Amino acid sequence: MEDIKMEEIVSFCKNYGFVFPGSEIYDGFANTWDFGPVGVELKNNVKKCWWKRFVQEDAHTYGVDAAILMNPKTWAASGHIDSFSDPKMDCKKCKQRFRADNLIEEYSKGEVAAEGMTNEQMENYINENHIVCPNCKGFDWTPIKQFKLMFETSRGTVEGDKDVVYLRPETCQGEYVNFLNVQRTTRAKIPFAIAQIGKSFRNEITPGNFLFRTIEFEQMELQKFCKDTDSMDIYADYKEKALKFVEDLGLDKDKLRFHDHDKLAHYAKAACDIQYKFPIGWEELNGIHHRGTWDLSRHSEFSGKKMEYMDPETNEKFIPTVIEYSIGADRLTLALICEAYHKETLEDGEVREVFKINPCLAPYKVAVLPLIKKVHGTKAEEIFAMLSKNFMTTYDETASIGKRYRRQDAIGTPYCVTIDDDTLNNNTVTIRNRDTMEQITINVDELVSYINENIQF
Ligand code: GAP
Repeated sequence: MEDIKMEEIVSFCKNYGFVFPGSEIYDGFANTWDFGPVGVELKNNVKKCWWKRFVQEDAHTYGVDAAILMNPKTWAASGHIDSFSDPKMDCKKCKQRFRADNLIEEYSKGEVAAEGMTNEQMENYINENHIVCPNCKGFDWTPIKQFKLMFETSRGTVEGDKDVVYLRPETCQGEYVNFLNVQRTTRAKIPFAIAQIGKSFRNEITPGNFLFRTIEFEQMELQKFCKDTDSMDIYADYKEKALKFVEDLGLDKDKLRFHDHDKLAHYAKAACDIQYKFPIGWEELNGIHHRGTWDLSRHSEFSGKKMEYMDPETNEKFIPTVIEYSIGADRLTLALICEAYHKETLEDGEVREVFKINPCLAPYKVAVLPLIKKVHGTKAEEIFAMLSKNFMTTYDETASIGKRYRRQDAIGTPYCVTIDDDTLNNNTVTIRNRDTMEQITINVDELVSYINENIQF
């Protein structure tokens, strides 16, 4: 299929109930999106698969669900209060705001890494190369200023009492601050991991590209605590596991690549992203970071609690090294939508939109379609009741059977079950496969096990 444009994906998602613009009746609220009836199922399935692979199937990983609002000292310890900001510049002509580092990277087509530059160096580069505003093509910039990315709110029951609290910009701090609790209650031995899925918030300067960069998003993060001597092997292992996970979900191998970071934080031994070829180009899908003992050391320092592990064999106490694996649930869902969306021209010239999503992720696993509502409706409702006890099932009795198939193809339903006279007479149904469009006849009693066998992850 030809390369697809992001606008096409946005309109497809809106038309079929995957994703709607946030607060749409009020003309929207920039860079917020609401998942619709089909989209919420898809994203929930993405999160379920991640949890299954990395928590359920790993005896040494434990889940948590920490509070979004944390003691503000957390963000002093993590460094976010002092340094979680981006270099912003405003175009004086059209008033649009941009990240200076993004302007340089886009202008140099990724040849110049602005990451390590000072604000002065970036300003000089932009001036020397006469980099114009991407929006209005003007060249009239404000000086670069650091722009804080954490959303602030306040807490207090008494009027005028305004203790600043922050909406968390990443979930992993909830894993670090619970290191001692989790280790004590599970009696876990190193190496072990803590994982969580939850919302994060960032006041991004240049959000956009649909779900790719938003101000509110969900992260799936895992911190593996280990001995420093084992850390590089564990880092390499998570690189492979992270890649295999997204391949197994259905992302094309040729659209995935590792991007090792050249510039590392002072405490890190290694860092890399997995990039995916989105319709906007190669972009970060997830990160795997060697974080040394930085996070637990800082929390020890700021809380006064010893974030140490005692080796039961040697009785030696030490602060474990952390390997972090972090992936955005919304960003991964976007990649999967881009990969699954297809338009096919059939033999009769008709174009069908088909969402070729891995069945384990499909919003509905099966659609129940009575051939003639009046004749087959009651039996179809019985079959819906039976199937919906096992998996997400949808029911459609409107329009011709062909049109109903097309609707299910577009939202990725892997199986359509048609209820007809044979069902009433012989207790059999036809079951149609979304991708091959082939139909087979099976007994109603075999439906649940047939579908179950084909939707596992
Ligand atoms: N705890 C480490 C951390 O948060 P990050 O690279 O800033 O690292 C990890 O974020 C992942 O979260 C990214 O690879 C991406 O998938 C997702 N992510 C980050 N910012 C995002 C945003 N503004 N919108 C959507 N997803 C985002």
